[in-house]
Amino acid sequence: MDPPAGPGHLPLEPFKTKVVERIRLPSREEREAALQRAGFNLFNLTSEEVFIDLLTDSGTAAMSDRQWAAMMVGDETYAGSRNYAHFEAAVRELTGFPHIVPAHQGRAAENLLFSLLARPGTTVPNNMHFDTTRAHVLRNGARAANLAGAEAYDVVSDAPFKGNMDVARLEELLTAERGKVPLVMMTLTNNTGGGQPVSLANLTEVAGVCRAHQVPLYLDMCRWAENAYFVREREPGQSGRTIREIGRSIFDLAEGATMSAKKDGLVNIGGFVATRDPGLAERLREQLIVFEGFPTYGGLARRDLEATAVGLLEATDLDYLEHRIGQVRFLADRLAAAGVPFLRPPGGHGIYLDVRRFLPHLTSAQLPGQALAIEIYREGAVRTVEVGAVMFGDGETPDPMHPPLELVRLAIPRRVYSASHLAYVADAVIAVWQRRAAVRGVRMTYAPEHLRHFTAHFAPV
Ligand SMILES: Cc1ncc(COP(=O)(O)O)c(C=O)c1O
Repeated sequence: MDPPAGPGHLPLEPFKTKVVERIRLPSREEREAALQRAGFNLFNLTSEEVFIDLLTDSGTAAMSDRQWAAMMVGDETYAGSRNYAHFEAAVRELTGFPHIVPAHQGRAAENLLFSLLARPGTTVPNNMHFDTTRAHVLRNGARAANLAGAEAYDVVSDAPFKGNMDVARLEELLTAERGKVPLVMMTLTNNTGGGQPVSLANLTEVAGVCRAHQVPLYLDMCRWAENAYFVREREPGQSGRTIREIGRSIFDLAEGATMSAKKDGLVNIGGFVATRDPGLAERLREQLIVFEGFPTYGGLARRDLEATAVGLLEATDLDYLEHRIGQVRFLADRLAAAGVPFLRPPGGHGIYLDVRRFLPHLTSAQLPGQALAIEIYREGAVRTVEVGAVMFGDGETPDPMHPPLELVRLAIPRRVYSASHLAYVADAVIAVWQRRAAVRGVRMTYAPEHLRHFTAHFAPV
């Protein structure tokens, strides 16, 4: 028999369960009390207050038996741990980058890289900066430019590579700001724009422009394996290649990368910066010692490095990726059948509800994305996250209250939830969709200066 296929099919798990974790659906009264207590910010909920947690796919993966076994061979030596050697070998084998600097997570890697390369008066282009990437660029006084093509902002287009960069705009920017662009970043997949992939063809063009302008190209490679899956599926001539072969084609185009191993490293904590530049690697390690720790552990327990070495390779298994992307598609098909509007096509790590079509009666000032995330929690104790005016609407956005995309992300943790869980999520979202006209807006009652979505407070209006 062949694996199941076609719209709405159940994604077939290429694993079975060895350990379970109890979860419980809080009552309606408990959910209401939790919302009040949390200041209507879902980041403030406790795990006991959440039934299905789709807040993030970052650091929430279930590790495999092989990864747990790897944890047991942790060699907690301060300097020269053998786990670091395994980790370094795994990253080199996958990426071909010679210099690997471990860090405790993606933003720590970004801190190391941007504090060395970004300066006031410089600009860092990206297809679309993720919130922490953008925060590190701004923190170092540089400007963060998003150069994704127009398709990235078209929520109904089914274009296959909506993460692509607009190469003409990149060329223009590099010409206009000659000498003021320390690096170009490409985020794989484009998380802020719906987990949409970048094609190998686009990366090749971007790399060519970078080379012509002598500006290094770095990848934000958090979800590179998911990106490679889409390349294999959608790009002419790629279907016969393995994920690792496609990965090498991607990495060969870049000077280096930052990685949050909490995504396609299938671990709960970890990351790194990788580079081909030996001088930069030296300076990164100096920074590392100040902020993270010695270069053979980088702010991590050595057992975590061992688990990452295993997880990075597991994430390239095609059966795993079929299931992973299959889960996203399963949820998408259920929502689509009920007419729920979401950013198309479904991305690699979740569904992004299109808030402007979901709640057209709310104005931007009524923070409709936050209102929708609250309502989905209220309905089913499903935790999601706003990716819109709250996350990105601060002083740096041209029109802070009206970002180009207003979304609510349902991020699916890797190897954690079953198809029944996802069917339950679909039912909760559909229930809110059916009573959408009655959903009220919210206002912000407290906001910090940076990354405000994490700690802001809200109240219904
Ligand atoms: C595209 C992207 N870059 C960087 C990061 C930051 O990684 P971390 O959460 O490990 O600091 C994330 C995390 O969600 C991300 O999605």
